[in-house]
Amino acid sequence: MKFFIDTANLEQIREAYALGVLDGVTTNPSLMAKEGIKGTENQRKHYVEICNIVNGDVSAEVIATDYEGMIREGEELAALNPHIVVKVPCIADGIKAIKYFTEKGIRTNCTLVFSTGQALMAAKAGATYVSPFVGRLDDICENGVEVVADIVNFYRYYNYKTQVLAASIRNTKHIMECVKAGADVATCPLSAIKGLLNHPLTDAGLKKFLEDYKKVNG
Ligand code: E4P
Repeated sequence: MKFFIDTANLEQIREAYALGVLDGVTTNPSLMAKEGIKGTENQRKHYVEICNIVNGDVSAEVIATDYEGMIREGEELAALNPHIVVKVPCIADGIKAIKYFTEKGIRTNCTLVFSTGQALMAAKAGATYVSPFVGRLDDICENGVEVVADIVNFYRYYNYKTQVLAASIRNTKHIMECVKAGADVATCPLSAIKGLLNHPLTDAGLKKFLEDYKKVNG
């Protein structure tokens, strides 16, 4: 399974990359706004900075919601760096745009996916990634991980090449449930990635090992 970090914060991206386990980055307009990055030029510079940190896929989302606008924006984003994956919302014009990008060899991430039907449309259009939003489904009392598992199963059955990128991951439990469901990628906050390392028995065991070492070695 690949790990992406879901942030536009450069420090967090650097910290996750330094761990040696990071395979890519996903951003969205809200995450860019959170970092206070305003204006097209600054946003594009920011994407390039992210690409310079990480040796892996970096999702950059289009703002346009019409086909022509998405094509124009997506082509400009893809031209910024070979790591860029154009993130496109799962709406009718988005599916048409994904089909166009696929034919042009531009990689895509179909975002804002909440159902298996949407995931089917993304795969048929040739999306590189499909992003089911686990946490937001859980927020409305649905089962986000179950949607991930269902998508994984029917993609395998029909041999779709689209990779299942579990998004809107909120915690370590989400990550591990998506691992069990067979997701290809999980995009997570830094806290959830680091949280996977936490175990009280590791802390207690390490403390005891060091104490015993000191007893003999001073
Ligand atoms: C997906 O790529 C989105 O950026 C993200 O995972 C959304 O997560 P949220 O529901 O925590 O905002």
